[in-house]
Amino acid sequence: MSHTIIELQHVSKRYGDTVVLKDINIEIEQGKFYTLLGPSGSGKTTILRAIAGFLEVSEGDVLFDGQRINDVPANERKVNTVFQDYALFPHMNVFENVAYGLRIQKKPKKAVAQRVESALKMVRLEGYGDREISELSGGQQQRVAIARAIVLEPAVLLLDEPLSALDAKLRKDMQYELRELQQRLGITFLFVTHDQEEALALSDEIFVMNDGEVQQSGTPVDIYDEPINHFVADFIGESNIVAGHMIADYQVEFNGKTFECADAGMRPNEPVEVVLRPEDLDITSTDAGKVQVKVDTQLFRGDYYEIVAYDRLNNEWLIHSTNPAVDGDTVGLTFDAEDIHVMRLNESEEDFDARLESYEGE
Ligand SMILES: Nc1ncnc2c1ncn2[C@@H]1O[C@H](COP(=O)(O)OP(=O)(O)OP(=O)(O)O)[C@@H](O)[C@H]1O
Ligand SMILES: [Mg+2]
Repeated sequence: MSHTIIELQHVSKRYGDTVVLKDINIEIEQGKFYTLLGPSGSGKTTILRAIAGFLEVSEGDVLFDGQRINDVPANERKVNTVFQDYALFPHMNVFENVAYGLRIQKKPKKAVAQRVESALKMVRLEGYGDREISELSGGQQQRVAIARAIVLEPAVLLLDEPLSALDAKLRKDMQYELRELQQRLGITFLFVTHDQEEALALSDEIFVMNDGEVQQSGTPVDIYDEPINHFVADFIGESNIVAGHMIADYQVEFNGKTFECADAGMRPNEPVEVVLRPEDLDITSTDAGKVQVKVDTQLFRGDYYEIVAYDRLNNEWLIHSTNPAVDGDTVGLTFDAEDIHVMRLNESEEDFDARLESYEGE
């Protein structure tokens, strides 16, 4: 049985006249991996600070295990934080930094040594115990900060961009380590990143943030396959987004033609935006294509060619293809009805969820 461990209810935060969080409502269940994903300045760190107790919210409630904790000081909250700036103790060596929380808990010396060793191993820093913090690279310091938090095996761990300073290979290794650790210990993770691939790979549930608001929440698959609006479609993976109209249920018009689609529940003739992912487009002959485009440029991306083309209305189309195209050629694009995703303009998350449910249940 899953139960809610942390809840934010109608939380807002203002600094003077600047609103940095607007009516945030999120629910965190015990033992799952959650991610706050959004661009710089969208309010991710502010949410973590509100949960950890490092700032006072302007409105709304923060709940832990069903109890309101707005007035509980940070050191009495049952969460641990890996800060964006690491916040290590500069006068202690690596071992002492990681051991600090266990010493406060008065754990026996031998247990401390064992647990610190295994935490350092997990972050690939075996043998670094005697090093001073100033003798470490940024990525190594970041890993010490992770080890210092996980060694305590807290019920809830807040991680603010904990992998941002690592190179691509180490970052991938650490993603596996974190996910494995989270599952093995059943710790609830609230992880912050602005890297959409990282969020998709790691999370049970993602909150997509923009401008102090949660734009959409859901599983990685939900958010990738059914983005609620232009911002989410654009931020999560690459998308072709074109303007169109809903003719009737399961019929959408764009690029001057009507196509069968899998969406319903909108007003006849309602203006919409249509999303087609680059990997869902296939190149075919001009006659066989549903949309005709002229190839402009292409880049070899390793496992596919990324092709940029323009239709007659001068909309840009991004296509991922295993075969190269010829610059300047006019080609046809095909796609399946299920690959067309229709977004309503300015739909609220509640209305969006209700609409999907109404016709997915049919
Ligand atoms: N003490 C403060 N006073 C005024 N504005 C603040 C303060 N702290 C944060 N802000 C503003 O609040 C907004 C959200 O900041 P926050 O640190 O939560 O963003 P973020 O999503 O974590 O960004 P990043 O990815 O860059 O870390 C920003 O516009 C920031 O400038
Ligand atoms: Mg931040």
